[in-house]
Amino acid sequence: MKESGKVIGIDLTENMLKKARENAEKHGYRNVEFRHGDIEQRIPVEDNSVDLVISNCVINLTTNKEDTFREIYRILKPDRKGMMIISDLVTSKEIDADSINAENWCSCIDGALTKENYIDSIKKAGFTNVEILDEKLYMELDEGKEDQEKRQITSISIKAVKE
Ligand SMILES: C[S@@+](CC[C@H](N)C(=O)[O-])C[C@H]1O[C@@H](n2cnc3c(N)ncnc32)[C@H](O)[C@@H]1O
Repeated sequence: MKESGKVIGIDLTENMLKKARENAEKHGYRNVEFRHGDIEQRIPVEDNSVDLVISNCVINLTTNKEDTFREIYRILKPDRKGMMIISDLVTSKEIDADSINAENWCSCIDGALTKENYIDSIKKAGFTNVEILDEKLYMELDEGKEDQEKRQITSISIKAVKE
């Protein structure tokens, strides 16, 4: 990042913000700022102001991915000047709300959507230009039910541009 650029980090938890600020101080990063916010409700950043949004394994922790992608879309610059490059996990099979395990949710697994639903929620948020950059099998979950196929959890990287 050039000295003239600026990076804004967002997190829901004060502990993570404290850690990020301490690391920035330790390494002498002056053009970074960390803000508290829930990305699903409202990203604390102005409309149409950001060149690039990056995220790894965070959007899966939100309950409504479409709302989160709508917030990302809102803050990106229009006219192909703003884009997001994100990675997350997708699943071969979504699980019912009453089978969600809190630990698996925090590991970005039980909140995972199928690849089709994940991409659909990006498009419903307004992005028309969506590209899969990478896709790798992350793990197979054997849930001990003989009659059921193992759940395949895949890591996926996606680029989407705001037109
Ligand atoms: C799995 S960690 C992120 C890992 C990190 N991106 C990396 O690549 O190492 C998830 C982070 O997302 C934050 N988080 C979870 N839900 C959030 C939300 N709704 N809004 C903002 N931050 C959230 C958590 O506090 C946590 O710091």
